[in-house]
Amino acid sequence: MNDVENAGFSKELNAFIKEWKNKPGNLIMILHKVQEEQGYISQDAAKAISIKTGAHLAKVYGVMSFYHFFKTKKPGKFKISVCMGTACYLKGGQELIDETKKLLGLEAEQDTTPDGLFSIEPVRCIGCCGLAPVLAINGDVYGKLTTKQIPDILDIYKNGKEKN
Ligand code: FES
Repeated sequence: MNDVENAGFSKELNAFIKEWKNKPGNLIMILHKVQEEQGYISQDAAKAISIKTGAHLAKVYGVMSFYHFFKTKKPGKFKISVCMGTACYLKGGQELIDETKKLLGLEAEQDTTPDGLFSIEPVRCIGCCGLAPVLAINGDVYGKLTTKQIPDILDIYKNGKEKN
């Protein structure tokens, strides 16, 4: 199997694709699984899905672009999810995004640092509204935040915290 056909998929992922390839809703299920394993859908992954399922590549991209959930850019090693649910929004979610982007040196349109260490994205309610405003980094939740706390939080990760 060549690299494009494989796209770095694990054995489990390939087995999942085999199981789902002929079922209704297969592309959505498979894309979810690929994103779960790889963090995003690369061009190679999209091509591999097309080859493995027999779906035209344009159809794979069509599903990817219809559902905003699917990411086509590789996320940073540390994914910063800033909650923009109602409670967090009202308590300053946007300021958290603005300050974090400023500290990371990201321009308005950028969401990943050039070194690939951090990426940032607004997300819907992550279920701890009592701690608003909240952000999470690779699943570690930081609540009742003020913008002043963000540099110290980023430093934890800059200084080599390993999280998957
Ligand atoms: S609104 Fe942010 S955790 Fe619910």
